[in-house]
Amino acid sequence: MNEHTLSMRLERVAAQVPAGARLADIGSDHGYLPVALMRRGAIVAAVAGELALTPFQAAQRTVRDNGLEQRITVRRANGLAALEAQDAITAISLCGMGGETIRDILDSGKARLNGLERLILQPNGGEQPLRQWLMENDYRIVHEEVLRENRFDYEIIVAERDGLRHYSPEELYFGPLLLMARSPAFLAKWQRRLRERQRTMSQLSRAQQALTQEKMQDIARQICWITEMLDSTERS
Ligand SMILES: C[S@@+](CC[C@H](N)C(=O)[O-])C[C@H]1O[C@@H](n2cnc3c(N)ncnc32)[C@H](O)[C@@H]1O
Repeated sequence: MNEHTLSMRLERVAAQVPAGARLADIGSDHGYLPVALMRRGAIVAAVAGELALTPFQAAQRTVRDNGLEQRITVRRANGLAALEAQDAITAISLCGMGGETIRDILDSGKARLNGLERLILQPNGGEQPLRQWLMENDYRIVHEEVLRENRFDYEIIVAERDGLRHYSPEELYFGPLLLMARSPAFLAKWQRRLRERQRTMSQLSRAQQALTQEKMQDIARQICWITEMLDSTERS
């Protein structure tokens, strides 16, 4: 993967960035996403935010090598502290981090959001707490997808702030739009998850630890939800 050829995961994220956007890519690492989009003429300006020094320098290098210093600003900053009002950002991507980390970045940087930005999120796990935050902060999920690359299942969640929305616990867990569409990729992911959860459950039931009771209840609930969802899909 590089700024010329994105991974399928980042390619699907790129497809959700509105044409002509002013993009902030937070946790940009090498800066491939904003640089690829700028090279294609798909966005007009970008900020690449990075907390860690080595990836920050890598992003600076990618921008410089492509002669895009006038269009893409690379800032070393924690989360949304990379955003400045004059950037007039219209889309924010947060990809390749845990869902809880993305949630915490959004939550601690709330004051920097104007509410008009499209959020394009690609969590590596922790989708449920991330959707919970979106709901609690008046975001509507406008697009969701599941994809599999290099034996990993990835989810992409796109949200826009447009008033109160209530999602049920199952919708927060599976994704409201994914649950509605029940695509083959989504069902295959949850079949794999079910097998994983069942394996974990049998390992935990063999372990004699005080802590496992609560964890077992949580996994049992997940197994129940997944089984119900898969069974009801099969019946319909
Ligand atoms: C696994 S990389 C993902 C890179 C790229 N977004 C992608 O999806 O391929 C995650 C990056 O997020 C950065 N990161 C983690 N927490 C951050 C934070 N609070 N603010 C900015 N960057 C952060 C890490 O330093 C790392 O470079």
